Amino acid sequence: MLKLFGALVILGLALACITSWVLDSYDTAWRPKRSFRHPSAGDGDESKGNSPPFPNGELNNIFWFIQVSDIHISRFHDPRRIPDFEKFCTDTIEVIKPALVLVTGDLTDAKTESKVGSLQHEVEWQAYHNILKRSRVMERTRWIDIRGNHDAFNIISLDSVSNYYRKYSANQKVGSFHYVHKTPFGSYSFVCADATLTPGPKRPYNFFGILNQTQMDLLEKFRAESLKSNQSIWFGHYTTSTIVSPSPGVRDKMRFAVAYLCGHLHTLGGLMPVLHSRHPQGTLELELGDWMDNRRYRVLAFDHDLLSFSDLRFEQWPAVLITNPKDAQYLHPGVEPLARIRRSTHIRCLFSGASLPPDSNCTVPP
Ligand SMILES: *[C@@H]1O[C@H](CO)[C@@H](O)[C@H](O)[C@H]1NC(C)=O
Ligand SMILES: *[C@@H]1O[C@H](CO)[C@@H](O)[C@H](O)[C@H]1NC(C)=O
Ligand SMILES: *[C@@H]1O[C@H](CO)[C@@H](O)[C@H](O)[C@H]1NC(C)=O
Ligand SMILES: [Zn+2]
Repeated sequence: MLKLFGALVILGLALACITSWVLDSYDTAWRPKRSFRHPSAGDGDESKGNSPPFPNGELNNIFWFIQVSDIHISRFHDPRRIPDFEKFCTDTIEVIKPALVLVTGDLTDAKTESKVGSLQHEVEWQAYHNILKRSRVMERTRWIDIRGNHDAFNIISLDSVSNYYRKYSANQKVGSFHYVHKTPFGSYSFVCADATLTPGPKRPYNFFGILNQTQMDLLEKFRAESLKSNQSIWFGHYTTSTIVSPSPGVRDKMRFAVAYLCGHLHTLGGLMPVLHSRHPQGTLELELGDWMDNRRYRVLAFDHDLLSFSDLRFEQWPAVLITNPKDAQYLHPGVEPLARIRRSTHIRCLFSGASLPPDSNCTVPP
């Protein structure tokens, strides 16, 4: 009995350590003591944003995009998951009309029926692929889907026939990449940090992702390139607390990004419905709850280079995102032109209702 109790205490301690390590502190407060300076910020961040354009009553200098994560298409569990996702690709995307969609990994579940083992099932990948084809979502928006740990279970090499990601996803490319979204009012960098293991071990051996020196050098190149853009967003499947990378670490690479978007931890079984945090360098880390059980998705917008976002649930309407003034909890004084908020003339938001015509104009004078 005592022995069992001892074992339980040790297990409890180990769990507590792992949880605190994986979770860090989920706190988004900006600590002004940080010495942080974007190379293009010039001196005195106080004045950042004192130059036009300023948010006004016209729908300009704004674009918006969507993130969805951890879909876990499964041949065994929750038969609604597939038709709901198809409806998301048709109806939700049609109403919101995002410029791009980031799918941050775990497209398929890749588990055995007992949920204990792991195995790549071609039918799950075909189901995903068929949704993309039938909904024609790729004709209506830029669809960027990346791998998660479930998409790499049991894959011996990238050329393996069971590497269905290469055959059935939209993106098909493995590894990190840098995508620049160009608009008439500026360019916006989207950098994917792919820490998924290759070859992919079985469950549960890839809970952590790894970036080796070669991969970090590539990210360094993307970091330098992205300084030419108005703003940058980084995204990946793993939270940075579950990525192992050589010093100074992956957070340092994304220090000029306004936010890092990821998934992987879902909502920790409902324990942590919101996992938003801030790196010591100022970057916001915004984990998104899963599609799998919670049908979550996120709408984000760059409005006059200020990032705003709203975590939403499938088929809960109206979908509203206030883009100016943005939520004070998520200000990034190091990279965002915050003085524009003070000099703006209108409250701005994006608004969509299922039964209303698509309308992205709820701009009102203050
Ligand atoms: C948005 O609404 C305002 C006020 O009703 C109007 O003046 C403006 O032209 C509208 N903008 C667009 C892009 O529809
Ligand atoms: C984006 O950057 C360019 C070049 O610095 C600038 O002219 C433009 O106004 C910026 N766009 C916005 C929306 O601030
Ligand atoms: C780093 O990882 C990549 C992708 O997994 C691999 O192709 C490469 O050989 C690795 N490089 C080193 C130096 O280990
Ligand atoms: Zn997942």
